[in-house]
Amino acid sequence: MTQSVFESIDYVLGDHLISRCEDGDLRRVLILNAAPAPHFLPRLAAAISGDLDCVQWFAPKYDALSAMPGSLPPSVRLHDSCDAVRDGGDYDLVICAGTKQKQETRHLIALASRLLTDGGLFVIAAANNAGGKQLDKDCKACGYVTEAYSKHKNRVLLMEKRAGSLDADLLEKWYAAGQVSYCDKTGDDKAGRNEAGDDKIGSDKTASDKTGGKGAGFWTCPGLYGWSKIDRGSAFFIETLRAQGVTLRGTGADFGCGYGYLSRAILDDSEQIDRLYAIDADRRAVDVIGRNVDDARLSAVWADLTRPCDAIARPLDFIVMNPPFHDDKATAIDAGQAFITQAAACLKGKGHLYMVANTHLPYERLLGAAFTSVTALDTAHGFKVICAVK
Ligand SMILES: C[S@@+](CC[C@H](N)C(=O)[O-])C[C@H]1O[C@@H](n2cnc3c(N)ncnc32)[C@H](O)[C@@H]1O
Repeated sequence: MTQSVFESIDYVLGDHLISRCEDGDLRRVLILNAAPAPHFLPRLAAAISGDLDCVQWFAPKYDALSAMPGSLPPSVRLHDSCDAVRDGGDYDLVICAGTKQKQETRHLIALASRLLTDGGLFVIAAANNAGGKQLDKDCKACGYVTEAYSKHKNRVLLMEKRAGSLDADLLEKWYAAGQVSYCDKTGDDKAGRNEAGDDKIGSDKTASDKTGGKGAGFWTCPGLYGWSKIDRGSAFFIETLRAQGVTLRGTGADFGCGYGYLSRAILDDSEQIDRLYAIDADRRAVDVIGRNVDDARLSAVWADLTRPCDAIARPLDFIVMNPPFHDDKATAIDAGQAFITQAAACLKGKGHLYMVANTHLPYERLLGAAFTSVTALDTAHGFKVICAVK
């Protein structure tokens, strides 16, 4: 079993951090991209004399953290967005779980560096195969002197903030690049990439520009699914609906809406849609979609779609989705299957589910069991577009 990065942090640094908290040396603590960590978190929370702020924007992890309070003292504050802590500071310790998205992790490094008090401790960790190997390079590049540990296929770094030794310009660049910004997409997966292959945000508008939803591009930020591109499967999905003359009507939902590519296209294409719930587990997607889809029929909902979602008025006439899948084998289709089960539960009789998936992902059996008819509308470029009628 793969150990979480928090278990690895606990294993290599837990006792050290906790005894410094108990000594009163580390009073205010921030955890970015927090996870439940049932052994570490309650011990840490009990050891500190000040506040413990935890930030988690992904609904399933946020819900799991919320379910812990029985074992956490009231000094623990749970936030669904980094914005809740952005203007604060003076943390003595920041612990951060990096992600496999390089710009997102760099933004977190820059944010942590802003929020730490001078002399404060910074701990960052990531799985070796999800950004861990990049952490040493990135932390050193901005001037940190790191103590590095490897445990359970995770990389854990400990460092002290010495403001005078940090590269303020680089940190400022990483901070700015991780914020919501306008990305002028040209419609293929390579859009928004610079010559070095790094994702690049279009710079023709700034985050303060409030015209959102009018141009061809999207407001987005690193960390969102396919943040700097239009997903090929999603583009093929919309092309297919248009080519087949599908008209969506009534009340529907976009399951796993991301920054809003599908929502914007289907609302633009059909005046017969009365209401569209755009639902995603990533708080940042839900926060940004209103800027991309300037349409009063849209309601953005932050929820975990692998579980029943109470926030939408059922039953629905239609659902569109490009469900998430993980590259790491066993879990590849778990989330997609859960999305299908929840879609079937939300649709009315004869309601339509339209979905796109990679051709190799075997959803048909579950679809066949949950729906009356299942039709492949088109298959190309490694994707299939399926229509299932309840
Ligand atoms: C393949 S992306 C599709 C994004 C967008 N619809 C598009 O076409 O570009 C899947 C989306 O599902 C979201 N997601 C992943 N797990 C989820 C969950 N448990 N509940 C709700 N949304 C989830 C992700 O944040 C991501 O935005």
